[in-house]
Amino acid sequence: MKAFPLLTVALAVLAAVAQAADQRQFVQLPQMMRDHMMHNMRDHLLALQTITRQLADGEYDAAADTAEQRLGMSAMQRHGAAHMAPYMPGGMRAAGTAMHRAASRFAVAARDASVDGEPSKAFGALSDVMAACVACHSAYRVH
Ligand code: HEC
Repeated sequence: MKAFPLLTVALAVLAAVAQAADQRQFVQLPQMMRDHMMHNMRDHLLALQTITRQLADGEYDAAADTAEQRLGMSAMQRHGAAHMAPYMPGGMRAAGTAMHRAASRFAVAARDASVDGEPSKAFGALSDVMAACVACHSAYRVH
């Protein structure tokens, strides 16, 4: 007798929590574009892993190259950003551009580190790159 209202309340609470947990804006992309974007995303994560490895090994120039080629302004052109931009809300586009810019800034900081052997600015710049990943992920979804 008591179980039914309790269950109803429990389900309502669960639904509310689920809603609160995911307030990201849904962005509808044509499937091919979405697949392409997710492929790029997986490469972004791999690039970050490669970069942290290279920093740990003191290979600052290599870290700069990885960032510029895979995440930076060079990557932005190669990944067809201009083609995808019209499908994205302004904030999402801005987060994408911010990430590419931050990665190119990281590349400059990593090249400086290879000259003076002092990577702390490069680590700071890498954190800025990751902040752009986090900003977009917390605001948008495509699934
Ligand atoms: C402009 C927005 C944006 C930026 C910037 C961004 N992402 Fe994403 N990423 C997304 C969206 C949207 C998804 C899909 C989320 C969903 O639909 O649930 C995603 C998904 C992913 C996935 C999952 C891929 C899969 O196969 O499911 C990975 C990994 C990822 N991103 C890594 C990164 C990394 C690392 C960075 C930063 C270097 C980054 N992303 C920057 C928007 C972005």
